[in-house]
Amino acid sequence: MSIESANIINLDASSTTSASESAISNLPTHIGVTMDGNGRWAEARGKARTEGHREGIKALRMLVESAIRYKIPYLTVFSFSSENWRRPKTEIDFIFKLMRKFVESDLKKLIANNVRVRIIGERDGLEKGLQKIIQQVESKTAHNTGLNLNVAFNYGGRSEITSAIKSILKDVQSGKHTIEDVDEDLVARSLFTAGIPDPDLLIRTGGEKRTSNFLVWQSAYAELVFLDVLWPDFDEKSFMSSLKQYASRQRRFGGIETVK
Ligand code: IPE
Ligand code: MG
Repeated sequence: MSIESANIINLDASSTTSASESAISNLPTHIGVTMDGNGRWAEARGKARTEGHREGIKALRMLVESAIRYKIPYLTVFSFSSENWRRPKTEIDFIFKLMRKFVESDLKKLIANNVRVRIIGERDGLEKGLQKIIQQVESKTAHNTGLNLNVAFNYGGRSEITSAIKSILKDVQSGKHTIEDVDEDLVARSLFTAGIPDPDLLIRTGGEKRTSNFLVWQSAYAELVFLDVLWPDFDEKSFMSSLKQYASRQRRFGGIETVK
């Protein structure tokens, strides 16, 4: 079955909770996922890198489905970074086409599952048609109250912070804010993720142990889980194992008491 015609989120609200699922306590409110390893997955099979991206969309659908089932309030996925422009044009075009198709073909199911979609990242410079699709998916899901799915697309953490600084400086210049108004809360409210709680858990597949400009400000106290599995192979077991690792961490946020 081609991804275009594949069924996406087949869940309904009455979906049952499995025994293993209910055994995980202390679930994160916000999970960020860097979906890495598509190219290597394809290369290992003698296929073009693009085939890995195509396969990766299936893992993304599975992840969204699992997040809904586990009632995770916020999920942010890193789908294209500001730095990915360094790749060959053919690969970039393919990723863009794929994300576009994902949004278009899955929109109905996302709406049916009460998912609110936001696209975070730089929009200027994106093709007009794509900008329109982004606006549509956001407005059509804006009133949904289930999973908040944030797609980081053309996103870079440093660029996001730089834009926030510019917008705050403009407001100081125009007199809307004084320098004394500038605090961590104002910075947070000036980011793409304004109003979204910081991620509790960041998962990165593909074996690399770095955060690569993902949610730089927001992940200050996130628990990091690095998995060797390549993104197209990420399955519910990988998701559960990440949740279990998270549940076993002791979060102190700089204090001495474990915060639950
Ligand atoms: C992640 O997989 C997908 C994107 C960055 C768009 P990669 O394409 O980085 O795959 P590897 O890391 O080369 O295997
Ligand atoms: Mg990579």
